[in-house]
Amino acid sequence: MPFKRYAARQKYLQEAIPKGFRKKLLIFNDEVVGTIEYSLAEASGYTIKGENVIVMNCIWILRKAKGHNFGKLLIGNMISNEKNASGFATIALENHWTPWFMKWQMEKLGFKAIEGVQVKHKIKRPAQVFAIHLMWMPKKENAEMPTMDWQSFWRVKLSVWRIPCIVHKAGKAPYLSL
Ligand SMILES: CC(C)(COP(=O)(O)OP(=O)(O)OC[C@H]1O[C@@H](n2cnc3c(N)ncnc32)[C@H](O)[C@@H]1OP(=O)(O)O)[C@@H](O)C(=O)NCCC(=O)NCCS
Repeated sequence: MPFKRYAARQKYLQEAIPKGFRKKLLIFNDEVVGTIEYSLAEASGYTIKGENVIVMNCIWILRKAKGHNFGKLLIGNMISNEKNASGFATIALENHWTPWFMKWQMEKLGFKAIEGVQVKHKIKRPAQVFAIHLMWMPKKENAEMPTMDWQSFWRVKLSVWRIPCIVHKAGKAPYLSL
């Protein structure tokens, strides 16, 4: 990644890969149609904490390839490769203006909301209240639920979308917690 705009991503990867960061591409008919990124919570771009919790930073299936169980395939691959995980966590958005991390989609993939906050964006659509949820999919019996450090979440907001997954710019402007 030679470009300056990827410097933060490169720094993140240098730290996260030795800690078990994984990025997988789904190739169908010689074309990349999807991706998933995940790591242990401590190497995640999100401020999710939890013992042996794997955080899914990103999942994406191209629109033209949706509806063929590819999303579930990537989730299943993550689960079967991370047998020591107590469970899997991610975030979800509700009433956000982008199609990213929609709560119903994360639920369809097997996650459930365990806590959340309602926020407004300070600059973009400042009148629109939306929710950010911590999503959880336990795997081990009696797995302890992860927690979200919402205070740091605001400070590392860029990492929320830009560092784990550079295409997402939703974290660029500051948020205001309600
Ligand atoms: C969520 C996502 C990964 C699902 O991928 P997909 O390959 O289309 O989903 P699948 O075919 O594996 O379907 C998963 C489940 O969702 C359901 N589903 C998928 N699309 C649906 C739709 N439009 N309406 C209702 N249900 C739907 C499927 O029926 C399936 O449920 P089932 O197991 O009960 O049958 C994909 O829509 C996506 O990339 N969304 C954007 C994710 C995102 O915001 N990424 C940004 C963060 S980095």
